[in-house]
Amino acid sequence: MVDVVLGLQWGDEGKGKIVDVLTPRYDVVARFQGGPNAGHSLEFGGNKYVLNTIPSGIFHEHCINVIGNGVVIDPVSLKKEIDKASATGVNIKKSLYISEKAHVILPTHRLVDAASEAHKGDHKVGSTLRGISPTYQDKIGRSGMRIGDLLSSDFTQKYQSTVAIHKKLLDSFNYEYNLADHEPAFFEAVEFIKQFKIINSEYFINDLIFKGKKVLAEGAQGTLLDIDFGSYPFVTSSNTITGGACSGLGIAPQKIEKVYGIFKAYCTRVGNGPFPTEQENETGEKLRALGHEFGATTGRPRRTGWLDLPTLRYAIMLNGVTDLICTKSDVLCGFEEVLVCDEYKINSTLTKEIPFNMLDGILEPQYKTFKGWAGNLSVMRKYLELPETFRQYMDFVEREIGVPVNVISVGPDREETILR
Ligand code: IMP
Repeated sequence: MVDVVLGLQWGDEGKGKIVDVLTPRYDVVARFQGGPNAGHSLEFGGNKYVLNTIPSGIFHEHCINVIGNGVVIDPVSLKKEIDKASATGVNIKKSLYISEKAHVILPTHRLVDAASEAHKGDHKVGSTLRGISPTYQDKIGRSGMRIGDLLSSDFTQKYQSTVAIHKKLLDSFNYEYNLADHEPAFFEAVEFIKQFKIINSEYFINDLIFKGKKVLAEGAQGTLLDIDFGSYPFVTSSNTITGGACSGLGIAPQKIEKVYGIFKAYCTRVGNGPFPTEQENETGEKLRALGHEFGATTGRPRRTGWLDLPTLRYAIMLNGVTDLICTKSDVLCGFEEVLVCDEYKINSTLTKEIPFNMLDGILEPQYKTFKGWAGNLSVMRKYLELPETFRQYMDFVEREIGVPVNVISVGPDREETILR
């Protein structure tokens, strides 16, 4: 069977660490969407690793790692990542499998991303500029290049005709660029990637499931960045919800058993777009400093705010979450008061639902206030060791959203985890 692990907020919920903690229970970890816009941080043995496209099971020797068809792959970025991970002694050639149907991010996709964001001016999404949106646009527009195309004899022809369209687009944006700066590294990376196992991953995964192997489907970004249900147009270009695991790996819905939903004890967001509980004040700055809230991929400072239950309930509904995982609860230590938004007031009406456009009218978050907690949570390993005020906060959250919180992460290291 397949379990899914994904983020319930605007990304950066700490998925990398949780997948790493869950991996010993699984034979396979498979990424199902997104690309190098993701930055999954893992910490163990005093070292920190950031993975962008490679599944987070890569540091476990027994684990098969699959990059699914729903992922978009930048060969240059993947090569760098493989080189770094290989330097730690991991045998990537043995454990990494790449779907032949995953789409390829070309150098011109990155240029088009930059040109289109620059063109949007004040309305820019705040993209990671990794070429994600133009690559998915080509996929949906039926003109993309797939990893399997790298192996075909007419690869160069296909590449040139795709690039010719991108050049027209770049000209229409009046965007200045020099493709020659990017192409040598791209072609070198393409040759490098060809050495890895490029497979028909839907057969591969279904065969493993049939043989009784346990698969963990790993999502990237978060539910509120989903192309259909996120805060559109300030979203990423893929389905980040559980349904994305079916289309991004080729697995049937009835194969999915558990859905682990990860949320931070507060909220963050990078890039532009609505953020109802944002704290653009000292509290927000304190959250950013204590939580080290800077993008793992871009280094950008993250916007910060209190936990938002209407969006969390929405995310749990969309994903069919069975198990909740709360991360970074240790960051809230030292706050005198901790606030949680339970509902919104929109034009003097109270609601727990997410409006069509969060930016329309005045959306006022309604907060419940809890007494803060202190102490070094990161050394605690049992729920009952946690401060009583923290448990009151967590009991409230569980009651409000109706799903148990099974795992509480109290620090970045693998060991700093409380399983209930
Ligand atoms: P894109 O996916 O690079 O096109 O970016 C679209 C939006 O999603 C921007 O607001 C990004 O900051 C955000 N985003 C993309 N990937 C991540 C992620 O892994 N974590 C958090 N935000 C992300």
